Amino acid sequence: MRDSGKPLCLITGASAGIGAALATEFARNGWDLALAARREAPMQELADKLKAAYATQSYVYAVDLSDMAQNRQIITSLQSKGRTVDGLVNNAGFGLPGQYNTNSWDVHHGTLNLMLNGPSELVHLVLPDMIEQGFGRIINVASLAGFLPGSMGRTHYAATKSYLIKFSQALNMEYSDDNIYVSALCPGFTYSEFHDVNETREAMNKTPRYMWESAQRVAEEGYLAVMGNKPVYIPGKVNCALAALGKLLPEAAVHSLMKRFSQKYKRG
Ligand SMILES: NC(=O)c1ccc[n+]([C@@H]2O[C@H](COP(=O)([O-])OP(=O)(O)OC[C@H]3O[C@@H](n4cnc5c(N)ncnc54)[C@H](OP(=O)(O)O)[C@@H]3O)[C@@H](O)[C@H]2O)c1
Repeated sequence: MRDSGKPLCLITGASAGIGAALATEFARNGWDLALAARREAPMQELADKLKAAYATQSYVYAVDLSDMAQNRQIITSLQSKGRTVDGLVNNAGFGLPGQYNTNSWDVHHGTLNLMLNGPSELVHLVLPDMIEQGFGRIINVASLAGFLPGSMGRTHYAATKSYLIKFSQALNMEYSDDNIYVSALCPGFTYSEFHDVNETREAMNKTPRYMWESAQRVAEEGYLAVMGNKPVYIPGKVNCALAALGKLLPEAAVHSLMKRFSQKYKRG
């Protein structure tokens, strides 16, 4: 595929939800895309749609990002096509259902690769070119959960999101003077496939609608946040209020609230 002259953004978890919405947002703003997730068909469909709408060139990678080698292969493949990564969105993720002992170590290890090691290594791989060209934009999709205590079930989810927030803040401090902006995007409840995958859809349908955002809105605000060099961005007023409350209330009270809430929604 010929280089279009547009900057290129690699987006993980681009087959659904927030990742697909972010892909649309980057394409709308004049970027080419590298789309990565396990399911090829929805990414190819999105690539075709964005080509027709915005003349976007997309490279589709059907990969399992719980395998570190497959993370690296994307970068090697793009390099072999002469494309540098100007933007990176570490978005792929899920909440692993079940209490900690109910999943094998291999499953936990793969989850930690997907949520922590993969994003960290992808940033490390793309930074040299970004530094050389004096331009880069990186979004790490974290979560409101990263500001709150861990929960029962999905045991390391909040911890991994907390890591992404601190990681993004540190990277932002280190590289924003080089015109490389790094943002942690921290959505609350967002309409996507997320709650089907973590098996809480039925319970989540009972939460009030005002607590929910569309993936498109999260993506639009997330795009503006990274372009505006915001190290941490929480979309939605309700989510901002919840994050503030998590800081203001005594830790024991928030812990106990989270225990009661997550007990209702955990599996296993
Ligand atoms: N929805 C929410 O309420 C919410 C709130 C806060 C934060 N978030 C965060 O937002 C991000 C996107 O989630 P979403 O809400 O858009 O959920 P989603 O609709 O379930 O999308 C998750 C994406 O991650 C990909 N993915 C999962 N496991 C993968 C693997 N092993 N290898 C490659 N790709 C993988 C999925 O693609 P394949 O299945 O095709 O592989 C899919 O494209 C996640 O990091 C999530 O933690 C979501």
